[in-house]
Amino acid sequence: RDRGCSGGGQRRGGVAKSKSRRKKGAAAVSVEPHRHEGVFIYRGAEDALVTLNMVPGLSVYGERRVTVTENGVKLEYRTWNPFRSKLAAAILGGVDQIHIKPKSKVLYLGAASGTTVSHVSDIIGPDGLVYAVEFSHRAGRDLVNVAKKRTNIIPVLEDARHPLKYRMLIGMVDVIFADVAQPDQSRIVALNAHTFLRNGGHFLISIKANCIDSTASAEAVFASEVKKLQQENLKPQEQLTLEPYERDHAVVVGVYRPLPKSK
Ligand SMILES: C[S@@+](CC[C@H](N)C(=O)[O-])C[C@H]1O[C@@H](n2cnc3c(N)ncnc32)[C@H](O)[C@@H]1O
Repeated sequence: RDRGCSGGGQRRGGVAKSKSRRKKGAAAVSVEPHRHEGVFIYRGAEDALVTLNMVPGLSVYGERRVTVTENGVKLEYRTWNPFRSKLAAAILGGVDQIHIKPKSKVLYLGAASGTTVSHVSDIIGPDGLVYAVEFSHRAGRDLVNVAKKRTNIIPVLEDARHPLKYRMLIGMVDVIFADVAQPDQSRIVALNAHTFLRNGGHFLISIKANCIDSTASAEAVFASEVKKLQQENLKPQEQLTLEPYERDHAVVVGVYRPLPKSK
């Protein structure tokens, strides 16, 4: 289902809330670390990608929570649906690096209501920070409510095209994640990278082909976006499409002003 480009609503049907809770002791469940630090895999009746809930007892967008006991300690995880989050889709699609890990400082452009931002908040933990930029007032309201409970989210209700408007709120970051679904997204990312991304920092961009050019093939759009990024000192290192979770979407991951290789 095509949800249109930015300007419209970003809400979607989403996961059906599970009505029946798993009976205690009904099945052996466990959680194991994913290759990406801060991300986990829940092994139960159905496997799921999960993150450790920073605010146990609360869901953010109706996602299912699962509790496992490890060494006598109860830990609560939140399931992460790849149909609702491009970062989750990229992880399940086998992206090599996400660069977002415990303690990271992340600038997230196009935060919407905070669905993916909340999982980034879980991954980076209490010693990380995610600056979440969103210009829609409606989505921004939800985002602010999510941030009230999660101290590592700083909501920034501004237009990502004008980073100077919010430069007083944001420090230098390790990673920029962008999902604004705008035709000038590469330019938006470049402006923010030049202002906030440390040299050698990384970027992840979700590109929705038909938001950029609905007449060209998706592959041609991805190639031309990669070229634009290169011209801005954003060096793509990896590109993958988000099938089967999203159609004609790619995620590009790369490095900004790579530091000279240490010997
Ligand atoms: C595809 S949605 C993001 C979904 C979100 N990343 C998630 O996974 O939960 C794109 C969002 O970018 C926002 N957006 C688009 N252009 C923007 C801009 N110039 N500045 C700030 N936010 C923008 C839209 O309002 C929309 O909420």
